[in-house]
Amino acid sequence: MQTIRKISESIIYVGGDDRRTALFEGVYPIPNGVTYNSYLILDEKTCLMDTVDKSIVEGWLENLEYALGGRALDYVVVHHMEPDHSYSLMRLLEKYPNAQIVTNKKVLDMIVQFFNVDVSVRAVVVAEGSSLSLGKHELTFTMAPMVHWPEVMMSYEKAEKVMFTADAFGTFGALGGAIFADEVDFERDYLDEARRYYANIVGKYGVQVKAVLAKAAKLDIAAICPLHGPVWRENLGLILDKYTKWAAYEPEEKGVCIVYGSIYGHTENMAMALAVKLRERGVKTRVIDSSVSHVSEIVAAAFRYDRLVFASASYNGGAFVKMEDALHDLMAHAFQNRRVAIMQNGSWAPSAANTLKKILEGAKNVELIESVVTAKSALKPEQESELDALADELAK
Ligand code: FEO
Repeated sequence: MQTIRKISESIIYVGGDDRRTALFEGVYPIPNGVTYNSYLILDEKTCLMDTVDKSIVEGWLENLEYALGGRALDYVVVHHMEPDHSYSLMRLLEKYPNAQIVTNKKVLDMIVQFFNVDVSVRAVVVAEGSSLSLGKHELTFTMAPMVHWPEVMMSYEKAEKVMFTADAFGTFGALGGAIFADEVDFERDYLDEARRYYANIVGKYGVQVKAVLAKAAKLDIAAICPLHGPVWRENLGLILDKYTKWAAYEPEEKGVCIVYGSIYGHTENMAMALAVKLRERGVKTRVIDSSVSHVSEIVAAAFRYDRLVFASASYNGGAFVKMEDALHDLMAHAFQNRRVAIMQNGSWAPSAANTLKKILEGAKNVELIESVVTAKSALKPEQESELDALADELAK
C-alpha cells in the first residue's frame, strides 16, 4: 500500500521512514529513526527530486509508481550523492529507462565512482543558475558545496516558491505519517535531533552554510523541502533562526554544559558539585557523562550552550579516553566561540588538563579559564573555595 503525502496538488512526497537502521552513517544512533525524503513534481514533465537509501527502496518505488499514476518519469534530479539519497538511483534508472538525470558534473563523476557506470548520455548537466522548465513549474539550481559534500546542489521551484535543500534543514527522527513541521510539536519532539543532525553532519561547514543562507535570503520561499525530516511551510523563521546561529557558531542559549569522564565516580562528583554551585548562582546547567552519552550529544550540546566545562579523570598519562574522543570530535566539528573551563582528577600524576588543553589549542575564539580545579583522587572539603571561584568565574 502506498504511503504518499501531498505537499501541494503538484508536489508529492514519496519518501519514507526508516526505524530499523541503528546507526546513521555507521556512527550516529537514531533511536527515533530517520526519513529519506523524495518528492515528485507532476507537470507537463514529471520530475523526481532525489532517490532514497537502500533501507526503504521497495516502498519508495511503490510510492513513486502510484504517484506517477501510469505516467512516465521524465527527470530525476540528484542533489546529493551520499548513498542515503542515491543508493537506489540505478534501480530507478532501470525501472524508468527514459528518465534523464538532472545534476551537476561533480555528481556525474561520483556516479561513476559509486556505480562504475557512465550515465552522461542520459544526463542534463546543470550549473549555478541553470534552470529547467517542467511546464508551469520551473527549477533553478544553485550549488551548495560542502553542505554536506562537495557535489551538493539545491533547487528552487519558482511557481510554488519551494526550495529543495538537500541535507540542509534536515533532522533525525521518523515522521510517523506526518510530513509538515507544523503537524508535529517540532520544538518538543524534533529540535534536539535537528540540532544533533546539524552539528554532527553539517556543523563543520558553517562558512558554506552561511553562503547558502545568504543566497536563500534573496528568494521568496514558501516551503523548504529537505532530504530528512519534515517539510517547512509555516514558521520558517524558527528553523532559519537556528541555522543562522548554528552556521555562525553562535550559542543558542546561555548555560554551562559540564561534560565529564569519571572512572569510579569522584570526577562525576566534581562535575555535580560545580553544577550545584552554578544552579545556586542562577546559571542553567546541563551535565553529560561521556561514558554513557554518545559523542554526538556532546557535539550538539556544544552548539547549544555558550559555556562548557570538561571534567576528566587522568588515564594512561593523558585524559579519560571518552573525554579525549569527545574533544577531538568537537575540534573536528570546528568548535569555536565558547568559554571553557577544565577540571581534572588524578591519583598520582594528574595529566588530563594538559592533554585536553593541547587538543583545544587550535580552537578559534575559545576563552579558556586559566584556573584548573584539580582533585587528587577525590575533591576535598577544603577545596570548596576553588570550586566557588570557578563557579563565580563561569557565572560572570
Ligand atoms: Fe543525508 Fe549527506 O546525506
